[in-house]
Amino acid sequence: MFYIREVETNQPDLHPRLDELVNKHLQHVFRKPPAQPTREAFQRLQQFAKGKSRPWILDTGCGIGESSATLAKRNPDAWVIGVDQSFKRLDQAERVVEELPENLTLLRADLIDLWLLAAQAGWRFEQVYLLYPNPWPKSEHFQRRWHGHAIWPFLLATANQLELRSNWQLYLQEFARAVELSTGVLPVVEPWLPDPPITAFERKYHQAGQALWRLQADVSGFQLNSAFLPDNQEDQHQA
Ligand SMILES: C[S@@+](CC[C@H](N)C(=O)[O-])C[C@H]1O[C@@H](n2cnc3c(N)ncnc32)[C@H](O)[C@@H]1O
Repeated sequence: MFYIREVETNQPDLHPRLDELVNKHLQHVFRKPPAQPTREAFQRLQQFAKGKSRPWILDTGCGIGESSATLAKRNPDAWVIGVDQSFKRLDQAERVVEELPENLTLLRADLIDLWLLAAQAGWRFEQVYLLYPNPWPKSEHFQRRWHGHAIWPFLLATANQLELRSNWQLYLQEFARAVELSTGVLPVVEPWLPDPPITAFERKYHQAGQALWRLQADVSGFQLNSAFLPDNQEDQHQA
C-alpha cells in the first residue's frame, strides 16, 4: 500500500449555499454559447448517431478511456461515448486500453458545452457516468463542482440514470441533495468496493486504502424548462 493524500477541504459540511445556488440554476437561463471546437465535435457525434437506435452511455471526464472501454465491453448492445477535454489523456487511450471496442467513441470536448448542445438536440443518454470528477474541495470553488455549476439542469436533462463515484463522501452527499432538490428523488449513496477498479483514479485510491463512495440516481423524470434552451435554432437536431 502507498500513500495518496485524502481530499483536503476547508468545508466541514454541505456547502452553506448549496440549496440557494441549485435553486438559482434551476430557475435562471444559462446562455453561455458553446465554443466552436465542441460544436464541431458534437456535429461529428450527430453524424455518427444517425440511424443508431441503441442506448447511449456517456462516460464524462473519461481521462485515458479505460472506464469507457470497460463499459463498452460490458454493454455490447449500447454505444459508449467517452468525453474528456484533455488531448493528452485521450491520446493515451490506444496505448493503455489493449483493444478499443467497436461500440466505443472517444471524443475530445468540453462537457459544459456538450451538455448544452445535447439538451438543445433533445438527447437523453440512458446512463451517464461521473467517475472521480475533479472535487474542487475548497469551499470557494463550490460552483466548479458539477452540482454547483450553472450547467446542472442540462446535466440532469440529458440523463436517465446517473452514476457518480468519488473518494470524497461530501461531494456525493452534496450531489444527492442537489438531485433531491431538482427531482424530488433522494439518490442512494453507499460505500464502493471496486472489483476490479475500472479507472486510473479508482485504482490509485483503492490501492492507497482510501474509502470510495458511489451514488446512483434515476433522474429520468427531470424535464428542462424550454425557456432554458438558447434561441439558436440551427442547433435543433434530433439524435
Ligand atoms: C480526476 S480526473 C478523472 C479521470 C477518470 N474518470 C478516472 O477516474 O481516472 C477528471 C477528468 O475530467 C476531465 N474534465 C474536467 N473538466 C472537464 C470538462 N469541462 N470537460 C471535459 N473533461 C473535463 C479532466 O480532463 C480529467 O481527465
